[in-house]
Amino acid sequence: MIVLGIETSCDETSVAIVRKKKRFLLGEVLSENTLSQIKKHKKFGGVVPELASREHSNTLNYLVKKTLKKSGVFLDEIDAFAATAGPGLLGGLIIGSNYAKTLALTTKKPFIAINHLQGHILVTRMKRKVKFPFLCLLVSGGHTQLLLVKDYNDFKLIGETLDDALGEAFDKVAKLMGYSYPGGPIIEKLALKAKKKIKFNLPEPLIKSDNFNFSFSGIKTATRKIINDSFDKRLKCELAKNFQDCVTNCLIEKCSKAIKFYKKKEKIDSFVLAGGVASNKFIREKFINLCTKELIQFIVPEQDLCVDNATMIAWAAIERLQINKKGDILDFEPKPRWALEKL
Ligand code: KG4
Ligand code: ZN
Repeated sequence: MIVLGIETSCDETSVAIVRKKKRFLLGEVLSENTLSQIKKHKKFGGVVPELASREHSNTLNYLVKKTLKKSGVFLDEIDAFAATAGPGLLGGLIIGSNYAKTLALTTKKPFIAINHLQGHILVTRMKRKVKFPFLCLLVSGGHTQLLLVKDYNDFKLIGETLDDALGEAFDKVAKLMGYSYPGGPIIEKLALKAKKKIKFNLPEPLIKSDNFNFSFSGIKTATRKIINDSFDKRLKCELAKNFQDCVTNCLIEKCSKAIKFYKKKEKIDSFVLAGGVASNKFIREKFINLCTKELIQFIVPEQDLCVDNATMIAWAAIERLQINKKGDILDFEPKPRWALEKL
């Protein structure tokens, strides 16, 4: 089975062709091409939706052609055309979905509307065996969710952030320190350079609460207060490290509780870390330690599969097509908000 996937939900335009051979468990990327718009949005301090749509529209056709050429696959050899249909910025979702619908219509193949979050999570199963059910922490720029994944289309939300998404908190703290978007990788680099053992006063909201929810806006506000109160800029690496340590503690504490609980209740034997923030090496390390302690398999995609990409969209479509050959109707309307529980 060969699927072409398109991802245009935010600020990356990405196209991929993924193949899964019959009787093979895993998938193989024949070609993936991504154009990041980060430089275009930089001067505005965040993603500008109108600008993002224009860029997707300008580059998508070029990327599809390039991906087809590099994969060595002809258009009529592709079995289905998939696109991110939500959640995300509506303009981009319409552009990507319409392109995939047009290809499906002209080749008489199915169009598959994929949920972006489902893509982030399922892509872990493209390169290794991960049995359902498993526990997943999805940490991206727009979402922080702890999920019980029972099947390719059966997700149970067991905890989430009550305010900022974790990626958003990284971005905002980096911005407070004068850095541009995306802030996550910058905070990670700064934290690595921290030399002095200084403890700033950062709260760990909800850490002792009896649920699996998170809260990051208070940590961000406390960081802002430290920066505004005659902060010594020479300590910015130490502050970045304190922030990264603090949010990681909150993640580990709640996930440790959830692993203990769902190991007994649902017999899960794997924990998956997914989404853009999962590319953070420090956070990955802490989760490796946690899962080793809890005797549970830890799985995280390679770094380029953690951030937004079209491979995950094509792969999620393959997982679905294996069970259900039917595509979505061409009238399928993209959904800027689309909960995983409502697939
Ligand atoms: O999944 P993603 O590429 O896009 C969304 O679906 O949101 O995630 C982007 C987010 C951004 O907030 C970015 O700052 C964060 O992931 N991020 C990181 C790192 N790399 C990306 N956060 C912390 N450490 C990183 N190394
Ligand atoms: Zn994403």
